[in-house]
Amino acid sequence: MKEIDADIVNKVNALRKALHRHNYLYYVLDNPEVSDAEYDRMMQELIALEEAWPELYDPDSPTSRVGAPPLSEFQTIAHSIPMLSLGNAFADSEIIDFDRRTKKILKTEDDILYTVEPKLDGLAVELVYEKSKLIVASTRGDGVNGEVVTANVRTIRSVPLLLHTPTMPSPFEGEGMGGGEKRNIPLRLEVRGEVFIGHEAFRSLNEEQLNQKLAPFANPRNAAAGSLRQLDSSITAMRPLEIFFYGVGEFTDLKLKSHWETLQTLRELGFRINPLIRPEITIKEAVDYYKTLEDKRHLLPYDIDGMVIKVDNLSLQMKLGNTSRSPRWAIAYKFKAMQETTRILNIDVQVGRTGVLTPVAHLQPVSVGGAIVRRATLHNEDEIERKDIRIGDTVLVQRAGDVIPEVVKVIESKRTGVERIFHMPRNCPVCGSIVIRAKGETATRCINATCLAQLKERIKHFSSKGAFDIDGLGDKLVEQLVDNGLLASYADIFYLDAVKVEDMERMGPRSAEKLACAIEKSKKIKFNCFLYALGIRHVGEHVAKILAREFKTLDNLLLATAEQIEVVEGAGFVIAESVINFFKQNTNRRVISRIIDSNVCIFQTVEKERTLEDKVFVLTGTLEDLTRNQAKEMIEAAGGRVSGSVSRKTDYVVAGSSPGSKLSLAKDLDVEIIDQATLQKMLSL
Ligand code: IVH
Repeated sequence: MKEIDADIVNKVNALRKALHRHNYLYYVLDNPEVSDAEYDRMMQELIALEEAWPELYDPDSPTSRVGAPPLSEFQTIAHSIPMLSLGNAFADSEIIDFDRRTKKILKTEDDILYTVEPKLDGLAVELVYEKSKLIVASTRGDGVNGEVVTANVRTIRSVPLLLHTPTMPSPFEGEGMGGGEKRNIPLRLEVRGEVFIGHEAFRSLNEEQLNQKLAPFANPRNAAAGSLRQLDSSITAMRPLEIFFYGVGEFTDLKLKSHWETLQTLRELGFRINPLIRPEITIKEAVDYYKTLEDKRHLLPYDIDGMVIKVDNLSLQMKLGNTSRSPRWAIAYKFKAMQETTRILNIDVQVGRTGVLTPVAHLQPVSVGGAIVRRATLHNEDEIERKDIRIGDTVLVQRAGDVIPEVVKVIESKRTGVERIFHMPRNCPVCGSIVIRAKGETATRCINATCLAQLKERIKHFSSKGAFDIDGLGDKLVEQLVDNGLLASYADIFYLDAVKVEDMERMGPRSAEKLACAIEKSKKIKFNCFLYALGIRHVGEHVAKILAREFKTLDNLLLATAEQIEVVEGAGFVIAESVINFFKQNTNRRVISRIIDSNVCIFQTVEKERTLEDKVFVLTGTLEDLTRNQAKEMIEAAGGRVSGSVSRKTDYVVAGSSPGSKLSLAKDLDVEIIDQATLQKMLSL
């Protein structure tokens, strides 16, 4: 046997300790000290050493998160203290009642202090630590017995394999590691938390499922459950599970007085605690915070489905006790569901700007998350087939943020046998031309370029923000103008007959005058906006900017060959072919000439230095003298990106007056907040 050099042992120990600590700084304190690359280097070094010296094997090494051999079934284990569920409330009045009830049981009129937390939409687990080591992890199961998922839980990077011991001397320990004073390390500790998957990880996981011809998960919760309950933990290891801890079961050696103190202690011991928890507040403040959280909900990178209100004082919790199912000292104030069941009354087909036919479900109107939903997109023929959606089906519909509602799945048990299978029409429902579905494509298209449905959508796109941005030429008016024969192409916008417009239903001299002014104003247009407005396939706002930057003028682009376009960074073969095809067609050339002849002036965007390359900005509130669109353009011109929501990836939040909840989220996530003046300084550097 090889003799192990003491230096090697020391090195391995030091690396293990440092990596445990960096995990803690990263996941729990959200404040990493080293770059990801540095962390990876240390991890690689440790892996190499452990491979060279297998005698140094330690199951709790930071390297051992890859999963264990597959199981044939899960073992079960009894929770020392049952994992109860929570009573639900759906209105402020129920929360006030809860507070009144609580005071009555406690025979007090004094304000009770509560700690409130986001209710995470994942699945509950219990982790048992003995002598600082994670020994068992289990699911909630039926509350009394859970399934043992230790190997799976060990793969979650934010789960400490060893308790964090802040006061132990270590050459790697820096300042500000919490505590400082001596704290008992519990001999035994049961912690409870919620395992979940974030939105971005959920999307890429589902993409991967589809690539592998596997059924995608219906929502992040299902994906988290499916990932945690894997008999083969090496599969779990590849799933981006996360965890927040919110409570304890049985424990020794700790003297805890309140729930908030419990959470802080857990944090010091290395457990990740949600940053949106509000400690020690009155019931009125809790009700107010519910609204704040509900506003923030759409900005968070993970799902929450309500707020949990907990009596903070642990001796009061004891006095209140539990019912058979739930504690009397806590209640879940649920948000309005973002998913509801309803019935598909019919399916019809919409024709888009590029002729793509989109099947749309007409639903029995239903309130989802506070908005009435009447229609849901069914995406395309394959989606309908994959989900086996039929007319008359009872379905689960979902609204997520601002996106169009969609059908998640069919509730098959509600089928009565009268449901009808939907077939994509063979002809365009608007112009009657034959529709085509190309080999390998999911989209079915109407290929009649003069189809009125396509024309209307093309014109709407042409006048939209980011394109000609014609104020007052909204969707309804476009439809009216096309139906009245006043617009047969988007070029006609610049030749509209004022008298005829005036005579149209719901118009009049003033509206017609306003429209004429807006059209006149739109005639000065940046080259990239002009390109985007044309509605060339595959040329969205981003590609239009790339092409405008490269070719500078319309004439240059018209003269460019497919090869010259293809080699532009960010373009490629498909875009090149599409652009060339578009400009080759005589109808398109004629329309462009008519636009130019109407005195539309296309100006070149001046190339700024790309000082903000790859920086992510979020805008909130009203800026001093810039519209959000102007600020967005300036940031993008300097190479930055503007995102709609704040996350850990946000570099700066630009806050104007009356900022929204994005600002408080930025503070919670420690994102740098700047004002307009600072932004302008950054842009002029
Ligand atoms: S406390 C006895 N806190 O909600 C108190 N639960 O309906 C039990 N949950 O099974 C739980 N976030 O999965 C608590 N901040 C939070 C929570 C939370 C999500 C889940 C948990 C539990 C279910 C109870």
